[in-house]
Amino acid sequence: MKKYLITGCAGFIGSNFVYYMLRRHQDILMVNLDKLTYAGNLENLKDAEGDPRHTFVQGDICDRPLVEKLFSQYDFDYVINFAAESHVDRSISNPGLFVQTNVQGTVNLLQCAKEAWLRDGVWAEEKKFVQVSTDEVYGSLGDEGYFTETTPLCPHSPYSASKASADLFVMAFHDTYGMPVNITRCSNNYGPYQFPEKLIPLMINNVKHHKPLPVYGDGMNVRDWLYVEDHCKAIDLVAQGGRPGQVYNVGGHNERPNIFIVKTIIAQLHDRLQDDAINETLIHYVADRLGHDRRYGIDPAKIRQELGWYPETPFEQGIVKTIDWYLCHETWMDHVTSGDYQKYYEAMYKNR
Ligand code: NAD
Ligand code: DAU
Repeated sequence: MKKYLITGCAGFIGSNFVYYMLRRHQDILMVNLDKLTYAGNLENLKDAEGDPRHTFVQGDICDRPLVEKLFSQYDFDYVINFAAESHVDRSISNPGLFVQTNVQGTVNLLQCAKEAWLRDGVWAEEKKFVQVSTDEVYGSLGDEGYFTETTPLCPHSPYSASKASADLFVMAFHDTYGMPVNITRCSNNYGPYQFPEKLIPLMINNVKHHKPLPVYGDGMNVRDWLYVEDHCKAIDLVAQGGRPGQVYNVGGHNERPNIFIVKTIIAQLHDRLQDDAINETLIHYVADRLGHDRRYGIDPAKIRQELGWYPETPFEQGIVKTIDWYLCHETWMDHVTSGDYQKYYEAMYKNR
C-alpha cells in the first residue's frame, strides 16, 4: 500500500485531489495535514468521511515536531505539498505570511522528508516529493508565446515570489542531496470548493445576489483556465511517473480574458435562473490589482509527451458543471461567505 502525506487538502484543489485519488486508487492511505486557515474547510471533505484511506490531521506544515511524528508514524512514500497561502490580492497586503507558509513551510517538509528517507547516505527507494506550484512563477507574457519549463523564473507578486522561492528550495534539495522531487506548475484552476475570493466563484456568488461585479483594470488580462480534476490527474501522473528532478507545466490551452469569463457567468446564470436583473449592468470596472500580470499561457507539451496527460474537460462543459455545483451548494457558499469573509470583502472592494 502506498502512503501519502498530502498537505493543504481541505482547500480547493486539495479536496478535489482527495476525491480524485479515492476514485482512482483502491490501495492507498492519504494523511491530510491542513491548518484549516480561512481557505480550509472540513465541509470540503465531508464526502470522504469514514473512508479508511483518508485521515485528516489539523496542523501546520511549519510545525517540525508534528511533521516528524507523522513521518515516523506512517513511513510515507509520497509527500504532495498543496498547502499554501494562495491568493495574490492577500499577498499584496500581507507578504510575510506568504513567506512563512509557502517558503518556510515547504522547507520544513523537505527537511522532514530528507530525515526520514535518507539513511546512511542512501535514499530509500520509490519515494517522491511533489511540490504543487504555479505558472505565476514565470511572470507575465505579452500577446504571443507560452511558458515552457525552461522559461526563466520572473515572479512579480509576493505570492508568486514565495512560490518561486519554494520551487528553488525543492530543486536545491534535489541538486544538493539527491532528493527525488518533482514540481508541477499549473495555470488557473476552477471547479467545486473554490473559495469565493477567486474570480470565478466570487463572480458566481455576486451575480446570484445581484451585487456589483468588480472587474480589475480593463478586464483584458488573460488567464489559462483548467478544470480542477484535470490538474489532479496531472499531479497523480507526475507523482507516479515524473522523472526525478523534473518540472512539469500543466495547462489546457484555454486562454480567456477576464471580461469573457464574467460575461459567460452572467449569461449562464441569467438563463439558468430566468432572472432579467442578471445582466451586464452589474459589471463594475474597478482599480487594477497592483503589479497585475497581463497574460498567462502554458505549453503542456512535456507532460503530454512524457506522461500522456491531456485535459478531459473543455471549458464550455467545465464552467456549466462549476455553476451547477455552486447552485446546488448554497449552504456551503453561505458558510464560507459569513463572518470574516464579509470583512475581507469590505476591505478589498470598498472604495476601490
Ligand atoms: P486554497 O487557498 O484553496 O487552499 C490552501 C489550503 O492550505 C487550505 O486548506 C489551508 O487551510 C491550507 N494551509 C494554509 N496554510 C497552511 C499551513 N501553514 N499548514 C497547513 N495547511 C495550510 O489553495 P488552492 O487554490 O487549493 O491551491 C493549492 C495549491 O495549488 C497551492 O500551493 C497553490 O499555490 C497551487 N496552485 C493553485 C492554483 C489555482 O488556480 N488555485 C493553480 C496552480 C497552483
Ligand atoms: O495561475 C495560477 C494562479 O491562479 C494560482 O497560482 C493562484 O493560487 C490562483 O489564485 C490564481 O491566481 P490569479 O491571481 O490569476 O487568480 P484570481 O482568481 O485572483 O484572479 C483571476 C483574474 O481575475 C486576475 O487577472 C485578476 C482578476 N480579478 C480577480 C478578482 C478576485 C478581477 O478582475 N476581479 C476580482 O474580483
